[in-house]
Amino acid sequence: MDEQQILKQLDRIKEIPTLPTIVFELNKYLQDPDTSIKTVCDTIEKDQAITLKILKLVNSAFYGFKSKISDLRNAIVLLGYNAVRNAIVSLSVISSFSNRVALMDFNITQFWKHSLAVAVTSKNIAQLSKKESPDNCFVGGLLHDIGKVIMAQYFHDLFETVWTTLQNEHISFYEAEQKKLSTDHTRIGSHLASKWQLPGGLVDAIRWHHEFQPESKHANFVRNIYLANFIVNSYDYDQELRLDLSKMHPEVVKFMMDMMEDVGDWYAGLTGEIEAAYGFFLESDL
Ligand SMILES: [Fe+2]
Ligand SMILES: [Fe+2]
Repeated sequence: MDEQQILKQLDRIKEIPTLPTIVFELNKYLQDPDTSIKTVCDTIEKDQAITLKILKLVNSAFYGFKSKISDLRNAIVLLGYNAVRNAIVSLSVISSFSNRVALMDFNITQFWKHSLAVAVTSKNIAQLSKKESPDNCFVGGLLHDIGKVIMAQYFHDLFETVWTTLQNEHISFYEAEQKKLSTDHTRIGSHLASKWQLPGGLVDAIRWHHEFQPESKHANFVRNIYLANFIVNSYDYDQELRLDLSKMHPEVVKFMMDMMEDVGDWYAGLTGEIEAAYGFFLESDL
């Protein structure tokens, strides 16, 4: 199958989870700062599960507010529209994809752990560089590898080929895709993200997180996700390992060097926040 055939097949698969209507609705409302808080509350309250999740989020260690918040309106005011929108999109994507059959020894909890680590790292890079919204970067990190899950669930043959190759040849998932397939998880994931009408920056971050494109319209956003994924992959593999800068895009190396003195120390400082994100987003799955 060539790439066009694969993407066409993806369009035809009926059971691929689509985000619930309420998520689309909120996504739209929450992007507009003029939407009244009443409209937002009324829409969220239509869905009991989302309401509970928002209250849980605002009271979780992840945000660390001191007093207990039991009212949805207060929760939205405290978190802000952007954080609420991102939390809703994140939770709904994780729950849409978590209970499906996994393939070979691909472990979905491990997958989300990696994604959450990239999400937290990317959010912190945004806080340091002050160029992008930290909340948007969190979602970008969370969704960057979504194409892998799609491949594992809907394109078994392709996934098995990649998995066998990476295990036999001790190379990365992406390297195995480049060797054996006519497409890869960045193309499949970004195709789906644009079908879900997610923001353009998110679509681009999913598409270019392994090959940074400085000329992209959303270059700053994409660079955050690319760098976060690079850091998480390097240090998760070996805490003592130094980053292999020759494999990183030169512009990103410079961006990183200007910002951090010691990347290893900086990343080690995020452990607590990464654990808190696991706790909130994965809960009973752990
Ligand atoms: Fe990836
Ligand atoms: Fe990744």
